[in-house]
Amino acid sequence: SASSSSKSSLPSILLAGPSGAGKTALLTLFEKRAGRSTASPSNADSSNDKTTATATATEPALTHTSQTPVSVELNAASWSSTADHQDRKPKKFLLIDTPGHPKLRSTALSRLLPLDPKTGRPLPPGKTQPVIKGVLFLLDASTLSPSSPDSSLSQAATYLYDVLLALQHRYSRHSKGSKHPPSIPVLVAANKLDLFTSLPPSLVKKELEAEIGRIRVSRSKALLDSGAREDAVDEKEEGDDWLGEYGSERFDFRQMLEFDIEVEVVGGSVVGGEGPGVDGWWRWVVERV
Ligand code: GTP
Ligand code: MG
Repeated sequence: SASSSSKSSLPSILLAGPSGAGKTALLTLFEKRAGRSTASPSNADSSNDKTTATATATEPALTHTSQTPVSVELNAASWSSTADHQDRKPKKFLLIDTPGHPKLRSTALSRLLPLDPKTGRPLPPGKTQPVIKGVLFLLDASTLSPSSPDSSLSQAATYLYDVLLALQHRYSRHSKGSKHPPSIPVLVAANKLDLFTSLPPSLVKKELEAEIGRIRVSRSKALLDSGAREDAVDEKEEGDDWLGEYGSERFDFRQMLEFDIEVEVVGGSVVGGEGPGVDGWWRWVVERV
């Protein structure tokens, strides 16, 4: 089952992102191609095969909104297109799907930064928690344009902001004197590139950075307006709640490197035979588990 204890020691990739991004659809596709039952080498070199992509495209669409996290066990060596990888040992890892609904996002965020309820400080990595090796942040690039009628830009950027701030806090609030925790890179996966309204990854990056910059300004104003209770700041350092380079005017994903957080934007498509597919994301995942 999803919560068996033997699984919790596996390296894990956290799948996060707004509702409707395609997270569960991606989990299902990965499971089909690299899950337990398909781990035979016979289909190891089929990832570039057009027939595989077409078969995937005709799968029924997932329309359920996730309400609880679901993990699947995958094999990193089972699905690679190059021959030299074929006799690699199976490398198991977990993919953890989380719900994107705004009220359920703590499911994902608490995995990145488990906090001590008493002190508000990050808990040391527990034995029962899987080790997160990366965050796959999926979003719907077909509705991301700020000029699209139901633009998802604000939703997506707000959630990504929260993910990045959690990782920044994880880095900077670790107990004094100890080493920084191992870094958790973020892949912003621009999904649904099969749709003509989708933004290319370079624009997805630009729009997200601009929107996160706006969120950063409005959140710091909100903090000031709420009286910025000097006493409540106590042990926190100046700029602790400021994402990225403190006081900088424009936000840029590269600012996260100062906190050992690498952010990349890569496009893809889970369904639709026309799109670029999911191989780029899979490669990123396999390199990190
Ligand atoms: P929550 O569980 O609510 O957080 O959403 P989710 O991210 O799990 O989304 P889900 O996987 O349920 O997908 C939402 C819808 O997007 C489904 O109808 C999918 O078929 C569709 N979808 C996913 N990926 C793609 C894609 O690459 N292209 C297109 N056109 N549709 C996609
Ligand atoms: Mg889902």
